[in-house]
Amino acid sequence: MVRKAVIPAAGLGTRFLPATKAQPKEMLPIIDTPTIQYVVQEAVDSGIDDILIISGKGKRAIEDHFDRNVELEAALDDEDNLANEMRRIADMANIHFIRQKELRGLGDAIYYARQHIGEEPFAVLLGDTIVDSVIPVTQQLCDIYDQYRKTVIAVEEVPHEKVQRYGIIGGKPLSDTLWELSDLIEKPAPESSPSNLAIAGRYILTPDIFKTIEQTKPGKNNEIQLTDALRLLLSRESIYSYKIEGKRYDIGNKLDYLKTTVEFALKRKEFAAPFREYLELLLTGDRS
Ligand code: UTP
Repeated sequence: MVRKAVIPAAGLGTRFLPATKAQPKEMLPIIDTPTIQYVVQEAVDSGIDDILIISGKGKRAIEDHFDRNVELEAALDDEDNLANEMRRIADMANIHFIRQKELRGLGDAIYYARQHIGEEPFAVLLGDTIVDSVIPVTQQLCDIYDQYRKTVIAVEEVPHEKVQRYGIIGGKPLSDTLWELSDLIEKPAPESSPSNLAIAGRYILTPDIFKTIEQTKPGKNNEIQLTDALRLLLSRESIYSYKIEGKRYDIGNKLDYLKTTVEFALKRKEFAAPFREYLELLLTGDRS
């Protein structure tokens, strides 16, 4: 059973400058809720309440967000329930923090979790990626882990001509949604790509990953890439990939962030009707 989760959130967020110059990209809100709160909620909804956030320089706002703010709570009117909601955020899970001292890549960020994790399997949820789904996507992966007891990587289909933007898997299909991997390639050319199944920012890893990270040499951008460590692991043991049921949003990229905001607003009860009406008017050119 998977009881712990790691959320890497130390990256610089250079694709989202200048917003991320002095604030963590993981705190960028989708409407009124920071991205990382959706991510923590997904872990909690998947039955995980021990969460380690990999933080770093300039990321203090994340720690503050998951802490109590007693003065704020006292200033809020009890009637509108906001004070309770603020308290709930601090009590969502047992959240721990560790700082990645140098930004040496996602593999390196996860390596910081080794003592906290010990000898258990654990989920990894990228702190800048939200998945909207009926069944929480980490729960979907945990169910596969419980069946196979091996590393499970979430994947999603992407257009073939865009595979060079992603980590891509190749493997033997075991069903419509499950593959046993034979290959893992970071940003392949479309003509040589083994599939159009892209790694989707969610994983179930086992403690074996820590040894492989130690043995992984710096790759692209001189960083320790998790995909490289997973490829090394694949030469030693089976890895499975599961095509998630849900829609993934990478908020670290400006266009995806905009799309996420619009789609989530259209799903929010209080905004759905007026926001749709506004967008329709805007797009048909009638702004009166
Ligand atoms: P990204 O590659 O999307 O994050 O990593 P980044 O490096 O911040 O992005 P850009 O390219 O500069 O805009 C995915 C997740 O892994 C974390 C990031 O915070 C993000 O949530 N990460 C990445 C770390 O924790 N440490 C790292 O060294 C790199």
